[in-house]
Amino acid sequence: MAMAQTLLRSLGRQCLLRNQSVFLQKSLPSSSSAYTEMKEFWSKNRRLERPLSPHLSIYAKELTSGLSLIHRATGIAMAVGVTTISITLFALPGEFPTYIDFVKSLAVPAPIIIAAKYGLCFPVTYHYINGIRHLCWDWAMGFELGRVYKTGYFVVSLVACVCTGFVFGC
Ligand code: HEM
Repeated sequence: MAMAQTLLRSLGRQCLLRNQSVFLQKSLPSSSSAYTEMKEFWSKNRRLERPLSPHLSIYAKELTSGLSLIHRATGIAMAVGVTTISITLFALPGEFPTYIDFVKSLAVPAPIIIAAKYGLCFPVTYHYINGIRHLCWDWAMGFELGRVYKTGYFVVSLVACVCTGFVFGC
């Protein structure tokens, strides 16, 4: 019995090896023909002036992709901003209120202060609120197209309200 099993196993292995080598010989094209094919394919694309991927102009500008792009941008801006501001405040002498008083003493025109406050408030508020939307998607909630748009408009409105409250309330 054991001998029959060994014989079968060895025969099977021989067959597999032979098939594999035949398969490899038949299916793999020589590298030069693959290269020529690829070259022809790309020169045809260029000749027909087809947009080459990744190419932003082939995508319609949608609210959904815009909001995702802003989420990424605010995430990166916060990562850089929070790190830089924290290290700077650690390195500088004096306390935080001293610098606030200093900025106040500069008597910067109101529109610039308001714009700066919006600029500081927006990334945090937007990333936080839209982050909750992203986390809901991770839990497979609100992923239907209609809902993605509805929650998108909701996020934009809420962020505008919260930021305005912060800017004019503080
Ligand atoms: C200082 C605080 C934070 C920083 C520096 C930060 C930074 C980032 C960065 C750099 C990304 C990657 C963006 C990308 O490549 O697409 C990211 C993604 C993300 N953040 Fe934050 N984040 C912060 C706070 C938060 C908070 C409070 C939430 C939740 C309420 C949140 C939720 C998310 C989610 C869900 C993603 C993944 C989005 C996706 O699936 O594409 N983040 N964050």
